[in-house]
Amino acid sequence: MAQSKKRRMRSQEWFGTDTRDGMVHRSWMKNQGLPKHLFDGRPVIGICNTWSEVTPCNAHFREIAEYVKRGVYEMGGFPLEFPVMSLGEPVMRPTTMLFRNLVSIDVEESIRANPFDGIVLLTGCDKTTPALMMGAASCDLPTLVISGGPMLNGRWRDQTIGSGTHVWKFTEALKTGEMTMDDVLDAEVCMSRSKGHCMTMGTASTMASMVEALGMSLPANAAIPAVDSRRYVFAHMSGRRIVEMVKEDLKMSKVLTRKAFENAIRVNGAIGGSTNAVVHLLAMAGRMGVKLSLDDWDTLGRDVPCLVNLMPSGEYLMEDFYYAGGLPVVMKELAQAGLLHKDALTVNAKTQWDNVKDAVNYNPKVIFGTKKPFKPKGGIAVLKGNLAPTGAVLKPSAATPALMKHKGRAVVFEDIDDYKKRIDDPKLDVDADSVLVLKNCGPKGYPGFPEVGNFALPAKLLKKGVKDMIRISDARMSGTAYGTVVLHTSPEAAAGGPLAVVRNGDLHITEAELAKRLAAWKAPKPHSDRGWVKLYTEHVMQADTGVDLDFLVGGSGAPIPRESH
Ligand code: FES
Repeated sequence: MAQSKKRRMRSQEWFGTDTRDGMVHRSWMKNQGLPKHLFDGRPVIGICNTWSEVTPCNAHFREIAEYVKRGVYEMGGFPLEFPVMSLGEPVMRPTTMLFRNLVSIDVEESIRANPFDGIVLLTGCDKTTPALMMGAASCDLPTLVISGGPMLNGRWRDQTIGSGTHVWKFTEALKTGEMTMDDVLDAEVCMSRSKGHCMTMGTASTMASMVEALGMSLPANAAIPAVDSRRYVFAHMSGRRIVEMVKEDLKMSKVLTRKAFENAIRVNGAIGGSTNAVVHLLAMAGRMGVKLSLDDWDTLGRDVPCLVNLMPSGEYLMEDFYYAGGLPVVMKELAQAGLLHKDALTVNAKTQWDNVKDAVNYNPKVIFGTKKPFKPKGGIAVLKGNLAPTGAVLKPSAATPALMKHKGRAVVFEDIDDYKKRIDDPKLDVDADSVLVLKNCGPKGYPGFPEVGNFALPAKLLKKGVKDMIRISDARMSGTAYGTVVLHTSPEAAAGGPLAVVRNGDLHITEAELAKRLAAWKAPKPHSDRGWVKLYTEHVMQADTGVDLDFLVGGSGAPIPRESH
């Protein structure tokens, strides 16, 4: 407390003045039954909540917020919960990614405009994590993240089933007749047995792991199941810690350094993490002013083995990962192999090594060591070539090894509607060696950069037992998905990238022919002439730089805004 008395809290510019504004700020807040001692200069902690009934993965966040408040009060802080727009992956259309940057604006402006000294971000479903972190990064207050935790393992009859991953499997089984619609209806409820986010190593679990690897949460954030009492203890302890962070002035920029991002990229490789982490980390680094490029994913991630046997690359789920020891075990393995900056600072004011050095692996079937890894290649492969001059990505751990070197003629779909119309047409001229190309699904194209890159194979080939084919698109893919899919092709087709001019039957075309086709290319009509979609499509950057809006890169800190009355 001695330290807090010396430094005037930012919140005191609202609550600690004798102006008319000061009276207005205090008086109206007191209508919530808040006693006057809460306005005495103690740290005010904003709890940024993405609770929503249309974001089922975050539907338990009101309860988590109450546990955070307990911890904040215990340490002499003053918690204030505030809502921001939420992004429910399984419900929202056309894609939550269209709104990630919009939410980041909501978060940034909500923080800056209000009397907060420190921030707790409650994140869970895929985009809620990067959106909140990007917005908070642009304000750079002491900030700590709490992930909502994964659902319990899915169980259907005698099978363990994983969120998302089994949706793709069931969809294919329905097409081939191996499952009936009644089976699917029975299985879908068994896939979502409890509160929490997807329990595969999909995007939500990946981003929760990224939070921990970046040092932005207390240790063990990623894997504690949402309904486990220890998730609520974790929230309570995080509430205690954020008050200390404010007193220590431990700002986000002290944690989110280049070293932290390098650690996160390597951890992503070791967990077989989602390709979506690429764009989210690039965008976060952009907000923080940390230089990070797509090539860093290749150079830093290339030699990282996959250590975690979790769906979609493996067979277990997040609940098993937690019981096996969770992310601290993985980080300890990486540190011992020289693949982690041990001295990177974390929000508990300790280094990563301090946090993970005593971790114990309780199940080597779930978490492997670096000497005998689960898969030798875990990182994200960055591909460049005449179809992707500024880059594309592929997840080797989820791909078919035999397809990693392949030649085949293109079967082209101009956009997602064209794909849906023709993919199951028995007359489609396609065989198992064809390369399926899907255009106009990038940030500007869809618009919003949807997760359709793991688009399903033609039914007639599935029925013949074909399980995987090369697919190339400018789309993303769900972190729960798998297959030999080239994603994030940049520049995208709708921005005039070479993907736009690929034609049916192409196998190898000359540079001269490519140049001729590109010169004749015409930009598609804009999706909208008003509102968010117009602003988004005019300013969104390409996948290789993180898909942020060009005018949101960087930050403005959290200066005190002018008085309002
Ligand atoms: Fe919300 Fe997967 S749908 S985390």
